[in-house]
Parts: sequence; C-alpha cells; structure tokens
Amino acid sequence: MTVETSVKSRGLEGIVVGETAISTVGKEGVGLTYRGYDIHDLANKSSFEEVAYLLIYGTLPTLQQLQNYRDKLIKLRRLPNELKSMLEMIPGGAHPMEVLRTSVSMLGTLETESAQYTGYNIADRLIACTPSMLLYWYQFHKNNIRIEPWNTEEQTIAGYFLHLLHGKKPDDEMRRCLDVSLILYAEHEFNASTFAARVTTSTESDFYSVIVSAIGTLRGALHGGANEEAMRLISLFKTPEQATVGVKEMLAKKAKIMGFGHRVYKKSDPRSDIIKAWSEKLSHQARDGYLFNVSEAIEKVMWDEKKLFPNLDFYSATAYHFCGIPTPLFTPLFVMARLSGWSAHIFEQRANNRLIRPEAEYIGPAPRAYPPIETRG
Ligand code: ACO
Repeated sequence: MTVETSVKSRGLEGIVVGETAISTVGKEGVGLTYRGYDIHDLANKSSFEEVAYLLIYGTLPTLQQLQNYRDKLIKLRRLPNELKSMLEMIPGGAHPMEVLRTSVSMLGTLETESAQYTGYNIADRLIACTPSMLLYWYQFHKNNIRIEPWNTEEQTIAGYFLHLLHGKKPDDEMRRCLDVSLILYAEHEFNASTFAARVTTSTESDFYSVIVSAIGTLRGALHGGANEEAMRLISLFKTPEQATVGVKEMLAKKAKIMGFGHRVYKKSDPRSDIIKAWSEKLSHQARDGYLFNVSEAIEKVMWDEKKLFPNLDFYSATAYHFCGIPTPLFTPLFVMARLSGWSAHIFEQRANNRLIRPEAEYIGPAPRAYPPIETRG
C-alpha cells in the first residue's frame, strides 16, 4: 500500500490516529464526555463503579446490575499467597508505581489470560484488587502488619482503599471525594498511557502486558506523575505571598510548573473545578491553615503570567492530601481509576485491530561504506 500524504508533528500534536466511541476530550461545547455523558453529571450523580461499568461494558448499569457488579468486585479483592509473598520481598523504599507495575505483571503469571481468565474478568479483577496489592505492600513495610485486604464492609473502591490505608472506617466526605476523583481520572481518550495501551494491544499482546505498558507510561511527571509533583511544589510555600514570588522565580528560570497546561484543552480543564471544590471543602474540615490558599495563589500567578490553567492533577494533590493520603500513593490512585478506561480501550482496539506502526523521518548519516575495524578511530 502506498502512503499518499505524510504528516509530521512533534509529539503527535493534532494528529488523529484512530477512532473511539469511549470518550470525547475538548470538543466544542462539551469539555469531557464518557460514552456521551457529561463529566459534570457523572461526577455529581454517579459512583466510580457505575462509571467503570459504563466504560467497560458500554452502558450505565441498572440498579441490579450495579449491585451485582459491586458484589463481584468485592469478591475479587483477595490476593493469591504467591503475590503476597512477592509484595513482602519488594523493598519498602520502592515507589508504589513500581509496586503496582510489578504486581500486575506477577498476577499475569498466576491468572494468565485464557478461557478461564478472560479480558473482562481480568479488567474487573485488576480494578478490584489494586487497593489490596498497593496497601498490602504499604502496610507490611511501613507498619509491619499483614493486613487481610479483603474487607467486605466497604462497598466502594474508594472506601476500601481509605479503610485499608487508615485502618478504620473512612469519613463520608473523604470517601465521596476519592470516589469523585476516581470518576474524573477514569478515562481521557488517546492520552499518552492509553495510546501506549492501544499500541501494545495492537500487537496482539496479553491484557497484563498492556496494563504494564500503560502504568509505565502514566508514571512520568508530564502525565500522571504530575499530581505528586504538584503536592511537592505546593508544600514548598507557607503563605500565598511566598508562593507568588516563588513561582514567578521558577517561571523566570523557564521551569515547568506541574499540574498546569494541557495538550488538548486550550482554555480550561473541565475536571479541575470539580476537584478544586472538593479540595476547598476538605481544607476546612482538615483545618488547613495555608495549603489551599497557596494553591489558589499559584493558580493566579500561572494565569496572570502564562495564561495557563490548572489541569486535574493540580487540585487533586491537595484533595488527596486532605484525605490523609501520602503523596507517593497519588499516581497509583490515578492507575486505580484509569484501569477502567484502559480496559475499555483494549476491548475497542481488539474489536477492530490493525497493528499501530507509524514511520519516522530519517535524519541520520547518508548511506556509507562499512569500514574494517582496524581502520576506525
Ligand atoms: N509550566 C510552565 N510552562 C508551561 C507549562 C507548565 N506547566 N505547560 C506548558 N508550558 C509552556 C511551555 O514551556 C511552552 O512554552 P514556550 O512555547 O515558551 O516554550 C508552551 O507552554 C507549550 O508547552 P508544551 O510543553 O510544548 O505543551 P505540550 O502540549 O507539549 O505539553 C503538557 C502539555 C505536557 C501537559 C505541559 O503543559 C506540561 O508539561 N504540564 C506540566 C505537567 C502536567 O501537569 N502534566 C499533567 C497532564 S494532565 C494529566 O495527566 C491528568
């Protein structure tokens, strides 16, 4: 087949590389939709389990389907003994994203994709047991306890995560804040990690390998890792005035301020105001003296100086912090949510697959003679 046109774009900006029926990002009039539903409606009215079901199975569940789905996810929380042993062997100083990457890979050796463990079963299994994997490792190494991570009191993934983390029933507002955040993080069209997932899927690789590719891609500071970096930045300042001066100095040195800007959104990220409202609400509850005000000061400088707006990662950082979540667990929460979107993209790619294999413009040396080794130097 001959390629009639050749388009080149740094970072594939503006290039449409495929079709999807899963979500829209930054389309005229609507900021973000999942299978046609506006993100504001989903964040206000639904739960993460409803959204995961919508993304993976294609329709919103009925009441009965939702209850069945929650029951299924609760049953899938248990970890195999081999995986628990491996989590005990991973160093306590590892980054939790490394722990997740390794755990997913290990589970793939124990429950390998097959007629018994189908793609849909694996998608649900990973969503259900990610909090177990993460917090089994966390509690073993940080607090020297082996938790039994299959608590059934908490019906939601958000509540289950917080319960395992804090060892007690979570506060209702914190549980709902985390639930909303998982909805916001669940899906985002052809972002970098989803694209990585689709590339790996297109080679006919297995489900776990796809998810490992996606986790590795999400980890970087320009993508999911930005929420952790944003928290570190906000924590540098004790007052809004300090933040204003400090961020101006960073911009003068051409530093990137994590949690700002976006490749597709040009005016605002529709998810940001939703999580900002939660951050503000929880800042009162946490009797936060300054972090929320510092965040607003950074937002103002970024707009005044660069016309850049906060993306979802910026206010997620303080919202998570006010839920008592340690900073290194922020990006793994993004994984917990995005597993639903990635899974939907795996099924969509598999349903109409063609190997994803673009081309490069060659800028290296012209063809030349191979020199014998004794003549080189
Ligand atoms: N801080 C400072 N300047 C910025 C920022 C920022 N966060 N974002 C963009 N800019 C500036 C760039 O320096 C560049 O300026 P220049 O033209 O004077 O050189 C211009 O805006 C364009 O920036 P690019 O990096 O080319 O934009 P791109 O579309 O490639 O990048 C990205 C988008 C990666 C999100 C970028 O805005 C960024 O690095 N942001 C910080 C990281 C971040 O928050 N990532 C989270 C993404 S959203 C998510 O994963 C939920």
